[in-house]
Amino acid sequence: MGQRIILTLFLIIGICHFCFASRSFGIDLVNDTFIKDGEAFRYISGSIHYSRVPYQYWDDRLHKIAAAGLNAVQTYVPWNAHETVEGVYDFKKQNNIVQFLKIAQKYDLVVILRPGPYICAEWEFGGLPAWLLKYPNMKVRTSDPNYINSVKRWMTALYTEISSMLYKNGGPIITVQIENEYGSYPACDYDYLNMLKNLTQSLLGDDVVLFSTDGDGDGYLKCGTIPGVYATVDFGITYTPEKNFAIQRHKEPHGPLVNSEYYTGWLDHWGQNHSTVPTTAVAKSLDLQLALGANVNMYMFEGGTNFGFWNGANYPYHPVPTSYDYDAPLTEAGDITDKYIQIRNVAIKYNGVPKIKIPASTLKAKYGKVNITYMGNLVSYIKSTVNGSMSTFPLTMENIDHYYGFILYEYQFTSPVKSSVLDLSGVRDRAHVLIGTQYNQQSYGIVDRNDNNQTVIINAEVDEYLYILVENMGRINYGGQMNENLKGIISNVTIDGGLLTQWYQYGVPLSDNDLDKYFNSRLAKMVKSAEPVNVSFMSGTPNIVRGTFTLADEPRDTYLDMSMWTKGVAFINGVNIGRYWPHMGPQVRLYVPKYALRQGENTVSLIEVEKCLCEAKPCYIEFYDTPLINATIPSDGSMKTPITDKMTYRGDLSQNIDANYINNNAKVQQSVIQIIYDWLMVLVDSKWGILLL
Ligand SMILES: *[C@@H]1O[C@H](CO)[C@@H](O)[C@H](O)[C@H]1NC(C)=O
Ligand SMILES: *[C@@H]1O[C@H](CO)[C@@H](O)[C@H](O)[C@H]1NC(C)=O
Ligand SMILES: *[C@@H]1O[C@H](CO)[C@@H](O)[C@H](O)[C@H]1NC(C)=O
Ligand SMILES: *[C@@H]1O[C@H](CO)[C@@H](O)[C@H](O)[C@H]1NC(C)=O
Ligand SMILES: *[C@@H]1O[C@H](CO)[C@@H](O)[C@H](O)[C@H]1NC(C)=O
Ligand SMILES: *[C@@H]1O[C@H](CO)[C@@H](O)[C@H](O)[C@H]1NC(C)=O
Ligand SMILES: *[C@@H]1O[C@H](CO)[C@@H](O)[C@H](O)[C@H]1NC(C)=O
Ligand SMILES: *[C@@H]1O[C@H](CO)[C@@H](O)[C@H](O)[C@H]1NC(C)=O
Ligand SMILES: *[C@@H]1O[C@H](CO)[C@@H](O)[C@H](O)[C@H]1NC(C)=O
Repeated sequence: MGQRIILTLFLIIGICHFCFASRSFGIDLVNDTFIKDGEAFRYISGSIHYSRVPYQYWDDRLHKIAAAGLNAVQTYVPWNAHETVEGVYDFKKQNNIVQFLKIAQKYDLVVILRPGPYICAEWEFGGLPAWLLKYPNMKVRTSDPNYINSVKRWMTALYTEISSMLYKNGGPIITVQIENEYGSYPACDYDYLNMLKNLTQSLLGDDVVLFSTDGDGDGYLKCGTIPGVYATVDFGITYTPEKNFAIQRHKEPHGPLVNSEYYTGWLDHWGQNHSTVPTTAVAKSLDLQLALGANVNMYMFEGGTNFGFWNGANYPYHPVPTSYDYDAPLTEAGDITDKYIQIRNVAIKYNGVPKIKIPASTLKAKYGKVNITYMGNLVSYIKSTVNGSMSTFPLTMENIDHYYGFILYEYQFTSPVKSSVLDLSGVRDRAHVLIGTQYNQQSYGIVDRNDNNQTVIINAEVDEYLYILVENMGRINYGGQMNENLKGIISNVTIDGGLLTQWYQYGVPLSDNDLDKYFNSRLAKMVKSAEPVNVSFMSGTPNIVRGTFTLADEPRDTYLDMSMWTKGVAFINGVNIGRYWPHMGPQVRLYVPKYALRQGENTVSLIEVEKCLCEAKPCYIEFYDTPLINATIPSDGSMKTPITDKMTYRGDLSQNIDANYINNNAKVQQSVIQIIYDWLMVLVDSKWGILLL
């Protein structure tokens, strides 16, 4: 607070040198505005996450954002993408944040940086590296020393990388966020927020504008804000934005009005109908906010894609699909929509007609059908390629340093079992139970963490193997369950109540290019040993399939239709383009950016873990020139794990945009209930109870 009064005094008596210097950015508490190079400044911004857009397309998307009349972009920094291995920092290619910032600057876009370290964003573990969970009793987003040490190392690496990109140093970054919606997290650890503030100021200087973002409820602002960090709010469509901004004024009686996340769309979950938010209402509410002089960041302006295994999940456990289209003004593939045009029309009223023309949407191709060939049984591939870790009791994915995708468990029967009950209640998140040999297995069913009954009836002979292929479907990215994110099998496994001991665990390497390496080594071995490979393709056991196709011309963006397949992961030329689960929906087609393809021969490979649906006819996969992310979800219970429980995540969409878009009270009440719920969840944990009391 003291700092702000001094700043005000400087402004009043006009000796605030850095406010008027060239390349300065600050807050004017007298005229309630940001001030840039000595002049009042207001941003109309859009969120785009560089990690969700192929880096070769950053220029195209930022160009389109500038052409929409925006003068700013906002991005999160996903820590876990930059530090996949503890202590090793990656700032290349898709992680080249400086390059992204330079392109933004080329289009005269200033940047609102949200470096977290926690980012939510429906991103795996809210952007936190999964290796944090290896520390005993880790309490993320608190002053836990193990957490703080990791955060300090990472933030030092990040800020060293980007400090030249600060506005004062000639770059585009005008503001830096501290944590993210921290008021929605039950820990309420002010020491942690102050540590982040101090760390940021020591690395970037104390003249950089720091801000916080929280839901527009006093309950959120309580634990999310600290002195010296400018408090902003976030909210969706409303026709009375002055009421929402009044909540910000409770914390910041002076300074600019800021909506840091104005929702242009909404997120999806597997098994839930695709979310849409009506365009006219988005544009009208934006206009009303801008008319108040407010700074608005649209979340999202382009959503993009959860390539690989980067999707997050909400609790009660529901993972988000591969597409993060978000019903945003630019589609997942960066295409112009009617929402884009209407938002641009509003932006023009305030910022004038942009100098640059709207670029054309990229060309799409309908490559049609590609025949698919069976390549091998997945268990067999894994067993002959990866060395297992042995243990008495099952290990988690974190235990074996294999954090994402799949893990295979192996147990060998020492006595026969008949109609016995295998209990897998510790499964995170979904398991396929198989019994047989390394080359041939029979499927005994799927166990999902959301199933009411996590048992399967099995039969096995002595010396046969039990294989359990477990998928980590994405770590929880929001709320009090952040620390409960271990994956694999997290408890003991029993048969008829008897404990199973002596396990092998195998991490399934499915990062980019792993599969190609995998194929080569496996094929070499197959030739050498002439192993009996049984075609389990038709029987519903996990397998690998592949097809090849040739492109005569320069590749174009396309969409891979998965409707003949059940559940798994797709690869184009070795690049993991994401998970598919068409019968859960709403996403049926996967976005394939042209940069994954090449002129000449291409491969499409699938890890199909449940069942191929094309046994009666020849198997193929089909490329389309249009997306399909809004398949209708049946409400008749025909899906295995339909969403029946009420979502607690920030209220569901119907609460985000209430009935007549006029009154936001419903959402605020929901928020308060959420906070109470989160606090209760934490108090249930006795260690936390002590910490809090
Ligand atoms: C505030 O705005 C008024 C009128 O626009 C202007 O005269 C004054 O210089 C501004 N104050 C500061 C501190 O910029
Ligand atoms: C942050 O810095 C201030 C001023 O240097 C100091 O008083 C405070 O103890 C620091 N807080 C933390 C949590 O490091
Ligand atoms: C794909 O398979 C179909 C049916 O088996 C066959 O008629 C067709 O020739 C195959 N296409 C290619 C390119 O191999
Ligand atoms: C597995 O272990 C063997 C023997 O120690 C070693 O030669 C081989 O390289 C290992 N394979 C992998 C994939 O680590
Ligand atoms: C759970 O399923 C098993 C079969 O897999 C069955 O024997 C058992 O009765 C079921 N339990 C409940 C509570 O439905
Ligand atoms: C598994 O059982 C063993 C022996 O009873 C026990 O020591 C261990 O804690 C159990 N593991 C889990 C994760 O419950
Ligand atoms: C292949 O699988 C089928 C069906 O599961 C089985 O009947 C057959 O014996 C297996 N063949 C070999 C060589 O294991
Ligand atoms: C899905 O989206 C397309 C394209 O926006 C639209 O034409 C179609 O009506 C939508 N289908 C459903 C079921 O909402
Ligand atoms: C999805 O939308 C369809 C069509 O509006 C509706 O019939 C169905 O009940 C919805 N499903 C769920 C799970 O909400």
